Amino acid sequence: MTGSVTVRVPAKVNVQLAVGGRRPDGFHDLANVFLAVGLHDKVTASPADHQDDRGGAGGPRLTVSGPDADHVPLDDGNLAVRAARLLAERHGRDPGVRLHIAKDIPVAGGMAGGSADAAGALLACDTLWGTRTPYPELLALCAELGSDVPFSLAGGAALGRGRGELLEPLETGGTFHWVFATADGGLSTPDVYRTCDRLREAAGGGATVESVPDPEPSLALLDALRRGDAAALAGELANDLQPAAVALRPALNATLEAGLAAGALAALVSGSGPTCAFLVKDAEAGTRTAQALRASGTCRTARPASGPVRGAEVV
Ligand code: C5P
Repeated sequence: MTGSVTVRVPAKVNVQLAVGGRRPDGFHDLANVFLAVGLHDKVTASPADHQDDRGGAGGPRLTVSGPDADHVPLDDGNLAVRAARLLAERHGRDPGVRLHIAKDIPVAGGMAGGSADAAGALLACDTLWGTRTPYPELLALCAELGSDVPFSLAGGAALGRGRGELLEPLETGGTFHWVFATADGGLSTPDVYRTCDRLREAAGGGATVESVPDPEPSLALLDALRRGDAAALAGELANDLQPAAVALRPALNATLEAGLAAGALAALVSGSGPTCAFLVKDAEAGTRTAQALRASGTCRTARPASGPVRGAEVV
């Protein structure tokens, strides 16, 4: 009998998120510079111990632990469940499996927590089932599950093009230190993209691929990453979704200001938010800034973490 397989998978912050126009398929072309950071979920896959009416193993069964566990769906609304089903279907095998997520990444927080669980479940099931899916195929399955899932598998630092799923690994010259301030309640990614389109239309710039310029990565930002230069990176951080996230959650302005007042080099909303990310000089500044943010009363909690870190891996 095969035992359990546990995969550790990191959160991400977008150091640049340049959003192009809305495409005919509803997605947006991106220049998305991802950095994997040291907040992790753990996904454990174990053999199914249940049967459905037809004698099969009855599909994936999910349990979740952690402070936000109540906010995580346990059915097919969970990307980890969909990941296990997709892998089973690809290999023509029974999808029965027990999945457990030990959740530490903020839920619906703009840090790719759901995507991390999908990448973790894919790798955990592939290992448990011995299906030995080649890495490029695993990446393709990740892309079917969601735009950020390939990066959760790969980790490190990468430029995501297309809707974010076409990855080019990036070189980094050192470790960058961050503080992440989480908010009460998440933001829906589709809502944030829709609001971004609405704000652009209201400003007279249009919202479609024809009216919005192609998103491009900042060469100065890629250079700062390559040199491990936090001060230079601080001047280049950019998130086109930030005005939309702040429009939906105006209280984020106070969080961003509190982190800057505490001495952070720069502040931005992480992805579609509402988590706010603060770049700091070193680990000690991270501890101090996190303390000041917690004391400010402008966030639920604040935690230091650094990156780049490795992507999904069996532990
Ligand atoms: O790919 P994923 O399922 O994570 O996307 C969630 C939603 O976010 C999409 O349905 C779409 O509304 C929006 N999105 C987008 N453009 C992207 C990525 C996501 O509009 N590049």
